[in-house]
Amino acid sequence: MDTTRRKFLTSTTKLAAAAGLASMVPASLLAASKRKNVSAGDTINIALIGCRSMGFGDLLNAIKQPGVDCTALCDVDRNILDERTADVLKKQGKAPKKYSDYRKLLEDKDVDAVIIGTPDHWHCLPFVAACEAGKDIYVEKPLANSIAECDIMVRATRKYNRVVQVGMQQRSGPLFKKSMELIQNGAIGQLRKVNIWGNFNYGIGEIKAPDSAVPAGVDYDMWLGPAPLKAFNKTRFHGNWRMFWDYGGGLVTDWGVHLLDIGLWAKNIVQLPVSVSAVGGNFAYPDHAHETFDTLNVIYQLPDYTLSWENTAGTENGPYGLPYGLSFIGNDATLILNRENMEFYPDMQNGKPKVAARPKETGDDSHELHMQNFLECIKTRKDPVCNIENGRLVAMYAHMGNIAMRTQSMLVWNDEDKNFGDNSAANKLITPAYRAPWKLPLI
Ligand SMILES: NC(=O)c1ccc[n+]([C@@H]2O[C@H](COP(=O)([O-])OP(=O)(O)OC[C@H]3O[C@@H](n4cnc5c(N)ncnc54)[C@H](O)[C@@H]3O)[C@@H](O)[C@H]2O)c1
Repeated sequence: MDTTRRKFLTSTTKLAAAAGLASMVPASLLAASKRKNVSAGDTINIALIGCRSMGFGDLLNAIKQPGVDCTALCDVDRNILDERTADVLKKQGKAPKKYSDYRKLLEDKDVDAVIIGTPDHWHCLPFVAACEAGKDIYVEKPLANSIAECDIMVRATRKYNRVVQVGMQQRSGPLFKKSMELIQNGAIGQLRKVNIWGNFNYGIGEIKAPDSAVPAGVDYDMWLGPAPLKAFNKTRFHGNWRMFWDYGGGLVTDWGVHLLDIGLWAKNIVQLPVSVSAVGGNFAYPDHAHETFDTLNVIYQLPDYTLSWENTAGTENGPYGLPYGLSFIGNDATLILNRENMEFYPDMQNGKPKVAARPKETGDDSHELHMQNFLECIKTRKDPVCNIENGRLVAMYAHMGNIAMRTQSMLVWNDEDKNFGDNSAANKLITPAYRAPWKLPLI
């Protein structure tokens, strides 16, 4: 074990102890479901927990690959479960088993790996249970809906030696890899600032609607899971949960993790920020249902550069004509990047460009490459390109942005004590209070 990982495990155990956490996987499940790792020539049996949107996209990318079967699906919405089961049958000619409780799915010895495509508040519990059951995991981003859960998930991965890919698929994207190589090889000179923006209409949520009856076929108590009990409201449900603190963190955790990750990758940063501060608020669209900030700017101080995030939800304009992207500002040039484009703007000196111009380059979706990398790693037992530590790091950056804004304070993280020092308001937002009978897992 390397020293960084050992230090992380030791110090995060303090957080687990402080939170009074408990294991939630029955011993019978552990014994029943422990499965040997997949070998080179074996078929990989994959299952999906949370089937409506992104998780299903991930699953389609998995079953497109040779030697991969979908053997089980799990969802708490019977309508979605039935629809996705029919979709899988059509795609692969074999129907997967259906589960409405992920704990039952994880008892299934035929399952080698799971995709977790549930809302963010429902990542940690199935993730830890899957580790304990000996499954490998493709978990969607952000890793979890709180700092404490991210730490627990790292410990579970390493304790049970699981292969984990976090769904920040840009790590598999050729345009992103090329841009990182250019920056690291000095193409823009000394990098001093990365500005990141993500402006999306969906960030203001849907038009407000009254609470209503739970739709037929939905196990709403199980959809809420560890989150507080609240009446059913469609503006907080499928897809819309992102804009409510109980389930998500708004644009900075939803899109921010994708892009902040690239801002950190540019200098291979593995540390938390020196400090985090934020400004913004909920200034617009009072007729739309959202708690997370429609207007937000976060500044991260790093040892030798700054990262900034900004979102203006409800608009889709942004710098360089792009609704979202990153600008890497170096002494000699600025590199603009998003999933579709990479552009290079040399700086001028004495009327001449400091470095040669480069043609604009275009990029493609990298979800399938990211899934391929996960499937290869299941066989080689290597760490995938977006490993759990990486998923944790950037999720922590994103959550810290929200916590700085929610507490109106500049945050400084104390990595020994796993808290924000004497900032008690911020410390209260590190660990979620799970609704009984759910308990934060003790690892
Ligand atoms: N990598 C990407 O580019 C990308 C894009 C979109 C979403 N995501 C991530 O994917 C995840 C899912 O987002 P989405 O947009 O698909 O959400 P969604 O609301 O469309 O779908 C979530 C599904 O999970 C189900 N579910 C909820 N609780 C469950 C439980 N306890 N057990 C089983 N199923 C449960 C819901 O019924 C629903 O079918 C989120 O973490 C999101 O951030 C990633």
